[in-house]
Amino acid sequence: QLRAGSSRTVSLVVLDMANPFFTDVARGVEDVVNAASLAMVLCNSDDRPEKEAAHLGLLAEQRVHGVLITPTAELTPQLDALRDRGVPVVLVDRRAPGPHQCAAATDDVLGGRLAAEHLLERGHRRIAFVGGHAALPQIRERHAGVESAVREVPDTELTVLSPGELSVAGGREAAARVIGLPASRRPTAAVCANDLLALGVLQEMVRHGVRVPDEFAIVGYDDIDFAAAAAVPLSSVRKPRQELGRRAAELLLDEGREGHRHEQPVFEPVLVVRESSMVRRD
Ligand code: RIB
Repeated sequence: QLRAGSSRTVSLVVLDMANPFFTDVARGVEDVVNAASLAMVLCNSDDRPEKEAAHLGLLAEQRVHGVLITPTAELTPQLDALRDRGVPVVLVDRRAPGPHQCAAATDDVLGGRLAAEHLLERGHRRIAFVGGHAALPQIRERHAGVESAVREVPDTELTVLSPGELSVAGGREAAARVIGLPASRRPTAAVCANDLLALGVLQEMVRHGVRVPDEFAIVGYDDIDFAAAAAVPLSSVRKPRQELGRRAAELLLDEGREGHRHEQPVFEPVLVVRESSMVRRD
């Protein structure tokens, strides 16, 4: 059921269209909207609030049927403006700030905890969190999960590294900093806030002759397809990427229906262990 005057398009606004995580989310969205005879328009905010706001303004002018969005750190007023015009908005990969909105998210505190517990069980006591972007709530959650797991074990140390971006380049930057630390303080393992960072860490470690996982273990996050295909297959916290997109799109299409109730599903991540974190250290 389309709103009167709206076009047969739904927009997905993502933080980084170069991140395969969002390609998989888009795949899930497209499956659902296509089955409803609608088209998906992809917009990329580059994690910049002003670019996001400009996209949302354009989408309002285009009279899109609805907007699915992984927002930048702040929820911009343009999102409320869209809703005020009657355009349904569903958050993807972000928890809703209140009950009056649909959102599909993952329990990223649990995800961070699973990754850290795995490394602690394998005997690591100096662990790095390669966090990248502290402003994004879904990254802060991962950090909180890692931190709480590490704090529960005595004589452990958590080093937090925040490279400029959540990308392969950001991972290389963080790894170079780890390598530059004195041996007595150098972490022996890292939980990375996403797989792009993890791939960058792996690349830089290998470039410096550091053996992964024997000398440095790595756990990524998202479990994009490239994680398993890496030179050293990456352990990673798997998020239901397509499912997040599908569920969010279903919620969006349901918004116009009689008796619609806002839903906020939170999916559970699972840890997938591969070679990059296999060795025990005791
Ligand atoms: O957008 C940054 C990260 O948040 C992505 O890698 C994905 O994990 C998302 O949750």
